[in-house]
Amino acid sequence: MTIAVVGLAAVAAVFTVFSKPSPVRALDNGVGKLPFMGWNTWNAYHCEISESIVLDNAKLIKSLGLLDAGYNYVNIDDCYSEKERSASGDIVASKDRFPSGMKNLTDQLHAMGFKAGIYSDSGWFTCQLYPGSYQNEDRDIQLFQDWGFDLLKYDNCAVPFDEVIKEGMVGKYARMAGAIDKLSKRTGKPPMLFSLCQWGREQPWLWARRFGQSWRTTDDTGPDWGAIRSIINQNSFYSWAADFYGYNDMDLLEVGNDGMTFEESKSHFTAWALMKSPLVISTDLTKATNETLTILKNTELIAIHQDPIVGTAVTPFRWGINPDWTNNFTHPAQYWSGETQDGVVFMLINVLDQPADMFFSLTESPWIRAGRQYSVRDLWSHTNNGTAVRNMTIHNVPPHGVAALLLKDAGDEPAGIQPPCARPEWCMDQNGTRIDQ
Ligand code: GAL
Repeated sequence: MTIAVVGLAAVAAVFTVFSKPSPVRALDNGVGKLPFMGWNTWNAYHCEISESIVLDNAKLIKSLGLLDAGYNYVNIDDCYSEKERSASGDIVASKDRFPSGMKNLTDQLHAMGFKAGIYSDSGWFTCQLYPGSYQNEDRDIQLFQDWGFDLLKYDNCAVPFDEVIKEGMVGKYARMAGAIDKLSKRTGKPPMLFSLCQWGREQPWLWARRFGQSWRTTDDTGPDWGAIRSIINQNSFYSWAADFYGYNDMDLLEVGNDGMTFEESKSHFTAWALMKSPLVISTDLTKATNETLTILKNTELIAIHQDPIVGTAVTPFRWGINPDWTNNFTHPAQYWSGETQDGVVFMLINVLDQPADMFFSLTESPWIRAGRQYSVRDLWSHTNNGTAVRNMTIHNVPPHGVAALLLKDAGDEPAGIQPPCARPEWCMDQNGTRIDQ
């Protein structure tokens, strides 16, 4: 018994204060109240990156109006460094790919009005086997700050053996969170935004908000509807977890990369925006089409994504063709709603391969008031579409397409509508007469 207690104390000592159970719901250290937006090298370029690719895309983010739309982080992913650390132990920027050095690059990005993001790994190596930050957390975060970066994406490859780490997944990420916190306190500079990339292992939506501002919930996406619907399906079970300072990261956007129809790309973007995932473009913007830009610049969806009053995400209120709570990678939940500062937002996804009419009663959503009517704003056509009373049918939603609607309270519904309860379960007259039987 005594031995067990001593053992526990020893283990507890290696954890930073962050990994102890905490009543704090989210880490509010001044950064990342809202889900971040930006651009990242990975999906379009993988390891074939360079300072000119980053700068060319940054110039386009600006000239195409994407910076104005909110995409203000330019983030470098894996493969930016040499394979070996320097003799003194620091990560070294690749002399081929980033010959002018990282500080020069971030200075240019900052001058253009961006923030800059860098990448590392919580294990021995990155996923492409460049140096990881395990046991070098303090040194590396100092270097990243010296290089001028404002955000760190932190991956999950090359996990040290248990006999080395003895801290598990939570402790592994706590190490870098502690280093970020210490550095900020020491230098007085704002803490780096910490974007955990942990693919949803060990349920990060339960613990990662203690450490950072977002956490990947799933494996890497791909530029195809199969990947997108699978990620939507998985996130349907934890989209409740998003709120200020802590967001589910559904992975980089694939909008603009070949492999999806316009309608599929719209569904992809709508889900990421309304589920409050970071919105991170990851395409070669020199090839951006009008369709790509139309999607990425949907300012009405972005306004909800960046809602300063309501931090929560849409959640499903009905699965649709599947019974509620069905885990189905090909046919995820179809009927979603959420609160916003301007009204109730609805997201309807047609998971079928043919057009479909989609029907719902307004009060299936918990955010709708009974006995009221609602004006309907279509967030893709950008038109006002009349007033909804009690229910709505959206005709002809395209295959794998989406409807995104903002409903605003427009006063009492017309008097005398029957039945007296839109949701007739246990509906009763004041005199005790049950109406639903
Ligand atoms: C994966 C990660 C990707 C990308 C890649 C780089 O683990 O999920 O988003 O960062 O590593 O090697």
